[in-house]
Amino acid sequence: MAPEMLPPGSVIGMLGGGQLGRMMALAAARLGLSVHVYCPDPESPAFEVSKAHTIAAYDDETALAAFAGRCDVVTYEFENVPACAAEVIAGKTLLRPGALALATSQDRLVEKTFLRKAGAEVAAFAAIDGIDDVDAAIAVTGLPAIVKTRRFGYDGKGQRKVDSREALVAAVAELGGGDLILEALVPFAMEVSAIVVRGADGKSAVYDIGENSHANHILKETRVPARVSPETADAAATLGRRIADALDYVGVLGVELFVVRDARGERLVVNEIAPRVHNSGHWTEDGAVTSQFENHVRAIAGWSIGSVETVAPTVMENLIGADADAWAAITADPRARLHLYGKAESRPGRKMGHVNRVG
Ligand SMILES: Nc1ncnc2c1ncn2[C@@H]1O[C@H](COP(=O)(O)OP(=O)(O)O)[C@@H](O)[C@H]1O
Ligand SMILES: [Mg+2]
Repeated sequence: MAPEMLPPGSVIGMLGGGQLGRMMALAAARLGLSVHVYCPDPESPAFEVSKAHTIAAYDDETALAAFAGRCDVVTYEFENVPACAAEVIAGKTLLRPGALALATSQDRLVEKTFLRKAGAEVAAFAAIDGIDDVDAAIAVTGLPAIVKTRRFGYDGKGQRKVDSREALVAAVAELGGGDLILEALVPFAMEVSAIVVRGADGKSAVYDIGENSHANHILKETRVPARVSPETADAAATLGRRIADALDYVGVLGVELFVVRDARGERLVVNEIAPRVHNSGHWTEDGAVTSQFENHVRAIAGWSIGSVETVAPTVMENLIGADADAWAAITADPRARLHLYGKAESRPGRKMGHVNRVG
């Protein structure tokens, strides 16, 4: 046994107690690993499937230090872990994925700069720190373009599509006046994602590329395999690996990509990366030999990663808000694999569960 392999019984710390943390905790339990969830919300879906939990704020350094002291490795289910929390934890125990992955993915400007340096094509982009930057930014991206907050955006929040200089000036004011990024609008034919897993030994694997469709800026469906050329699928996997290597990454990494089709054929533009298990990887629970959750746990525990092979073509449907009320009808189809997150309250736009249909 390599010395860095955490044995069964080891404690995995999890920052965040939502559905991603819950599914990671379930996967960890199956491997005989114990999970301690840290989350400020007393109603966290991950609490009921984990051995221990701490209810405290992400900037409570005393609580964080006590938590980290009880864990053999700490991971997270969301990328907005404050830098100070990451520092406290990394000073006490292993933090996987590491601080570089967090810092890179928390800020869209840092992220796009990193991706370009790693050899990925990204949309033309420019920083906007105030109204004075608007003209120079438009000169880089052209119009239409998308203005986004550099930090804390998700599910399409904190961004506006703009068609004119006037619209951009108004959007800049609406989005806080600065700390923004302007991106050229990518005329994509399809959105896909690459779910990459990289072990502590540097070995990596990429699941079959998923084709994503959104409704109201929230992921609605992932279909695997994506309807792209084999060359494009290979290129996405290669890109995913290269990005994980450049971050010296340990765990599962989600890479969101645009497929652009023009006279020259198909090409890939990277949109963003997520240093965690990803909603577009939920199909792997039923459609792949090893799920993304299990592989994340194996990687952070220093274990070898499991096969990412697809068992059969799979479609994952997100159950958002009232969609989950149809749970009985969904289970009437014996091939539908239902996953519910145990959230007490259903709200429009809230992710309540998902269904995988395999084969
Ligand atoms: N530069 C772009 N060109 C075209 N569409 C974009 C661009 N940036 C974002 N989008 C669209 O908006 C969605 C959300 O943007 P994204 O940057 O992924 O933010 P979020 O963090 O909210 O997921 C994308 O999935 C895509 O459909
Ligand atoms: Mg996104």
